[in-house]
Amino acid sequence: MIQPREAVQRLKKYRPPLEGRAGKLRLDFNENTVGCSPEVARALGRALTPEALSRYPEYERGRETLARYFKVSPEEMLLTNGTDDAIKLICDTFVDPGDILVVPAPTFPVFNFFHSVAGGRTVEVRFDENFSLPIGRLLSTINRSRAAGRWVALANPNNPTGTMLPKKDLTAVLDAAPHTVILVDEAYFDFSGETVLPWIQRYPNLVVSRTFSKAFGLAALRMGCLFACVELADNLRRAQNPFAVNALALAAAVEAIRHPAAVRRYVAEVRRSRDEFSSWLQSRGIPYVPSHANFVLTRVGEHAPEIAGRLREEGILVRDWSYDPHLRGYLRFTIGSKPQMRRLIEELSRLEHRMDTRGGSSAWRNFVTFSQTGWFA
Ligand SMILES: Cc1ncc(COP(=O)(O)O)c(C=O)c1O
Repeated sequence: MIQPREAVQRLKKYRPPLEGRAGKLRLDFNENTVGCSPEVARALGRALTPEALSRYPEYERGRETLARYFKVSPEEMLLTNGTDDAIKLICDTFVDPGDILVVPAPTFPVFNFFHSVAGGRTVEVRFDENFSLPIGRLLSTINRSRAAGRWVALANPNNPTGTMLPKKDLTAVLDAAPHTVILVDEAYFDFSGETVLPWIQRYPNLVVSRTFSKAFGLAALRMGCLFACVELADNLRRAQNPFAVNALALAAAVEAIRHPAAVRRYVAEVRRSRDEFSSWLQSRGIPYVPSHANFVLTRVGEHAPEIAGRLREEGILVRDWSYDPHLRGYLRFTIGSKPQMRRLIEELSRLEHRMDTRGGSSAWRNFVTFSQTGWFA
């Protein structure tokens, strides 16, 4: 039996995302829940000619168009096969076995995944019980790991908490570690409206990532962008797969930015739905973390897996975070359109009633007992 590298032997078996999600109300992966703008789908149809499909992709024109949209120069930007590929590229470029990645916990698991594949070691800084990141502890951890510290990954807003690191804390991190790559993953920028993208001109250690998977509704195509100062971008480009991005993904992204009103409308609806859902949670006494993204993390208690299972039976997918020992009893709900959220709330209310009648008064009460202890907006 041929053995893989030691770092790969140490990895836990990968659990692929659940299949069979088509046709269900997908509130589990923070995708756009209504689909991309129809103009994008039509443009893809036009791009799908036999001749175009037989050619290797060409990137320059598309990259220039996207660079103008993001207000950077093409030299400061790389196209990637989604953010996942951007994260892998950072590891391919900078990480040797034994190097350290510093991340908040909980956060997007893909940072740790590719870092571990490269043979690196991840050091976590836990959010406190109010779900704010202790910046002092983050800075001292970065400082302590200085000798082997290669990069720090900060999703802003963070997944699964939906929280944001204040700009003054980001500046403190960038200043504290001038020789460490600081990735600010802005996958949910369109929902938060806050960015540090212009800072790439000020900070030679800053890398910013964006994706077309979320607000733009193009998760299936895998299209992301990475931004850094020219020198850092050049180094990343050296390690990059030259045909990482397929031509259709680029064509779709170029078309998508030509229809910003559709994205703005969707984002505005999600933000309204998020406020309404948060108010509903509050009215039911269910603790939640105030979110800047298109999802809300809630603490529903010991019945979390059962609630997620029952919702699935009704065709509604939500994310149960109970597999993380620190997040037992937590569900994360992606926020969709108003009618979609109405359906979710109706199902949750029905479930509340059913669990109440089944378990006498206790079952559903457990669902809401955290009202006395929790944190609110
Ligand atoms: C913080 C964060 N970054 C990146 C991604 C994935 O982005 P992409 O689809 O571009 O790989 C996700 C998806 O859930 C995420 O939560």
